[in-house]
Amino acid sequence: MSTDWTARPSATPADADAVLEIRGLRVDYGAGAHAIHAVNGVDLTLHRGEVLGVAGESGSGKSTLAYAASRLLRPPGRTVAGEVTYYPAGAGRQEPGIDVLALPPERLRKFRWTELSVVFQAAMSSLNPVLNVATQLTDALEAHRPGMTRRQCLARARELLELVNIDVARLSAYPHQLSGGQRQRIMIAMALVLEPEVIIMDEPTTSLDVVVQREILARVMELRARLDCSVIFITHDLSLLAEIADTIAVMYAGKVVEIAPAEVLCQTPSHPYSAGLLSSFPSLHGPHRTLVGIPGLPPDPRALPAGCPFHPRCGEAVAACSRDVPALFALGQRHQAACLVREAAAHAELNATDSRQASPSLPGRAER
Ligand SMILES: Nc1ncnc2c1ncn2[C@@H]1O[C@H](COP(=O)(O)OP(=O)(O)O)[C@@H](O)[C@H]1O
Ligand SMILES: [Mg+2]
Repeated sequence: MSTDWTARPSATPADADAVLEIRGLRVDYGAGAHAIHAVNGVDLTLHRGEVLGVAGESGSGKSTLAYAASRLLRPPGRTVAGEVTYYPAGAGRQEPGIDVLALPPERLRKFRWTELSVVFQAAMSSLNPVLNVATQLTDALEAHRPGMTRRQCLARARELLELVNIDVARLSAYPHQLSGGQRQRIMIAMALVLEPEVIIMDEPTTSLDVVVQREILARVMELRARLDCSVIFITHDLSLLAEIADTIAVMYAGKVVEIAPAEVLCQTPSHPYSAGLLSSFPSLHGPHRTLVGIPGLPPDPRALPAGCPFHPRCGEAVAACSRDVPALFALGQRHQAACLVREAAAHAELNATDSRQASPSLPGRAER
């Protein structure tokens, strides 16, 4: 392949089952000294068939990441560095992926409907108010599946409504005649209309009440299994991700500060910020926890504190935290965190284990 939107020949997936790889992504709003670094060097891999949860308080850069990765970013937003590579199903492992950031407009339209689609929070403003549900669904089909007849398109629209649990009678309804939960489910149906391999959901349930929220989440999980797609699910509510995600990435001030399998992150979070987020929301199932939350507010992105951007709010910060910027370090096979205190503790433990192994006469911790 030699089109200019195939990625560099070396860009075969680092993980054999990667469907979307984000590498070194940086997104600014504005330019020059006053630019806001909303996404500040993010690496993430979405694996085929997985739900990758992205959590973090408002302003941490989650939506900006979604916009940039799907090429929906608008000025003053600018992707200033990094790569987004999509690996279609069925492509040979040696084939280079698709360089999403270099896709020309025509190819991008196809990409956004048939390969990757996005569901945003504001369903009312994303739906066309003057078109009924049937038209919104069938327009997309008619545009991208020219071989389908009108009757086939309508049958598919009906099927999609059933899939998201909406009465097919609502096909003739207009957005303003639907409840918030129904509109959000129509948005999900719209995103699924061409069966994309990747769906990015940015806070798709945030404005809804808990009962509707749970019902929609259950649908998302069912659809993932039925349609065999991969999902990036963005939310500020970490307890929600505990229910549905396979892997969770926690973002703070434009960076991933911890990433781990969902059960590891929820049961033994390493970064103090992840622990704080977990204690900010009641868990939907799990044991009862005392909610303490996180003191203070997320930092102003135009004036990030020196060192670890979380240190002014962190109960465990030491002097180095206000000086050195932590990088992600490996805590386990698929577990990384960016915290100087945790990293030092992990090193100390490792050294202790090493010296115990080097001098077996020294008592191990359990023997002391
Ligand atoms: N259009 C914009 N112009 C300027 N700054 C923006 C714009 N959109 C977002 N930002 C800034 O980028 C940062 C990240 O925002 P966002 O990606 O929306 O975070 P999240 O989705 O996690 O709440 C925030 O500090 C926000 O103020
Ligand atoms: Mg957002």
